Amino acid sequence: VNRRQKEQYLREYEVLKSEGKPFFPYTVLKDSVMAATVLIVIIALAIILGAGELQNKADPTTVTYTPRPEWYFYFLFELLRVIKPPSLVIVATIGVPTIAMVLLVLLPFIDRNPERNPAKRPIATSFGVSVIAIMAYLTYLGAHAKAPDQIDIAPPKALTAGQARQFERGLQVANQSGCGACHKFGEAGGTIGPDLTTIGDKLPPDAIARTMQNPTAPMPSYADLPPGKFNDLVYFVSNLK
Ligand code: HEC
Repeated sequence: VNRRQKEQYLREYEVLKSEGKPFFPYTVLKDSVMAATVLIVIIALAIILGAGELQNKADPTTVTYTPRPEWYFYFLFELLRVIKPPSLVIVATIGVPTIAMVLLVLLPFIDRNPERNPAKRPIATSFGVSVIAIMAYLTYLGAHAKAPDQIDIAPPKALTAGQARQFERGLQVANQSGCGACHKFGEAGGTIGPDLTTIGDKLPPDAIARTMQNPTAPMPSYADLPPGKFNDLVYFVSNLK
């Protein structure tokens, strides 16, 4: 802003100010009425519709519960999923949001452009639109994210359509049986047992079947599965290559 622009701005400001009304009581009254209206609507909705979908009571003994954040935190949740290395978790959970908030507070000092029209402020406008777009995209991804122990692997290309279906059925049995709680399958799964992403290269199907029937603790036995499901499961695991 040069001197001339500044003087012109101050003149316009004086004119507008002399025509305007004081903040108190006019604006304060308007804001109070609006705030009260919003509050009454929320209270009315709570009375008429009740609270949204509530989950079961907290169960301290469960090991299968997968906590999910409220939808308006999905973008942060997804950010945490994208940033994998444990050493960077602090950066994702505290660092990035804090930097964003500090930048927002500093914005009036960084951006001294007197223009109000978004079309005449390309940098600020594109920055704002990108942030909204990124948050929307992360929210979408977060909403569709599978639980961290849900295995999600496509059948190998070499399989025929029928074999691919058996692979998919076995994958479902694996997910229902909770293998992902202990084993890593590609991206998903835990670290209590060995990584099974390429176990088909290391163990033949009969060895896999034997492990499933007579495992070493803490792995539970899966000998009680119906034979069809058991075969599908062994087929799935032995095709992880
Ligand atoms: C409670 C945790 C747990 C669960 C659940 C579990 N496993 Fe295991 N699994 C293990 C552990 C620990 C080992 C290693 C045992 C050992 O070293 O002898 C293992 C070993 C194996 C092995 C042999 C790996 C190797 O390299 O020799 C296979 C195959 C296997 N598990 C498959 C499965 C499948 C398939 C499921 C689901 C149907 C499953 N496991 C469920 C803990 C688990």
